[in-house]
Amino acid sequence: TDIVSRTEAIVGRLKPLEGPLLPILHDVQREFGYVPQASLPVIANGLNLSRAEVHGVVSFYHDYREAPAGRHVIKLCRAEACQSMGGDELAERLLGLLGLGWHETSANSKVTIEPVYCLGLCACAPAAMVDGEVIGRLDAAMVDELAKAVQA
Ligand code: FES
Repeated sequence: TDIVSRTEAIVGRLKPLEGPLLPILHDVQREFGYVPQASLPVIANGLNLSRAEVHGVVSFYHDYREAPAGRHVIKLCRAEACQSMGGDELAERLLGLLGLGWHETSANSKVTIEPVYCLGLCACAPAAMVDGEVIGRLDAAMVDELAKAVQA
């Protein structure tokens, strides 16, 4: 398939690196927007790993998606500065409004929610990133707006 041949090309290119697995996963996700199931055996064969080992790494790192993302991607900061400014409560509010858990995508594919660990905006905590744009000083009203906007 297309996924297999494109994954083979990435594996072929990065395999000579020392510690090639993470760079390969990174490029596969950049290529497809997520790490497709069909890529796993290709990567495993190329690196002499088991498919389970590759899968273990994909699920261990928060940065890899195992399914395509929704149209909007909201990343909420869960690191310390944001937590201490009420980030957890706001996260729960947003997850509740959208009816999603972390790393989940809504059934209508409109929105994906992901945790992130510091956006470098600690001075403006709590912080989030929405479709690549950072937002600081998140509050309940902004969360409510956001939930509406991404479902529109
Ligand atoms: Fe959230 Fe740094 S801890 S931006």
